[in-house]
Amino acid sequence: MSNVELGLPALPARPYPEEVHARLAADAAELIGRYPVARSALLPLLHLVQAEEGFVSATGIRFCAEQLDLTTAEVTAVATFYTMYRRRPAGKYHLGVCTNTLCAVLGGDQIFDELQQHLGIRNNETTEDGEISIEHIECNAACDYAPVVMVNWEFFDNQTPESARQLVDDLRAGEEVRPTRGARLCSFKESARILAGFADERAGVVDESGAGGAPSLAGLRLAKGEALPGTAGTKVVSPRHEGTRSDGTRNDGTHRDGTGHEGTEA
Ligand code: FES
Repeated sequence: MSNVELGLPALPARPYPEEVHARLAADAAELIGRYPVARSALLPLLHLVQAEEGFVSATGIRFCAEQLDLTTAEVTAVATFYTMYRRRPAGKYHLGVCTNTLCAVLGGDQIFDELQQHLGIRNNETTEDGEISIEHIECNAACDYAPVVMVNWEFFDNQTPESARQLVDDLRAGEEVRPTRGARLCSFKESARILAGFADERAGVVDESGAGGAPSLAGLRLAKGEALPGTAGTKVVSPRHEGTRSDGTRNDGTHRDGTGHEGTEA
């Protein structure tokens, strides 16, 4: 595809300053070296330039194109397709308010409206002090904790308009703010560098990453036949596993092994 001449003018983008370019080129070489085909490293490289400037600028697009022997049109097409690549500078703390279906009906829409009023900014804008940017985002696969707000991609669960306002006030005041689960916060640029594929240097981050919480595992536990608080008498109906006990053994004495083969208890 890179051999096709579209006759498009080059983006009016200046290159990075020499020192920045040299540093990013070394990082890019490390990322590109992880793939058999250089262009496969485009997504990490876009995170890399986002880590430098807080968004994917025209200069960042030019850099990626040069490193991967792509056209700036090709890089732009990818950068504008994925919503995690920002086209305007993010704040130090980038808030993503989920306004997808479940979060929306449980208060996400109201949280997003009230945060915009509270901060005096609109979707995809940044406060004048550069601390907070806000964006409404699609489902974060955290519906069991709805409504959810993310700060630099870390979860703040079960939010209300009041708790979300307190959250941004604390962030702007420099208070220590801890996500409901997962690793402690870092800046948006630092999170972009981690997403590019570089080591997460935060102390204790692996232990803090945690595992599935109780709401996430509730369905699994019910399916296994476990009783959960407040679910007395709940019966899980499954056409394929009707009458199956928690150890996989059926009430009629047959069982399914791990490969799906059926047998009879001795
Ligand atoms: S709808 Fe908000 S996390 Fe799924």
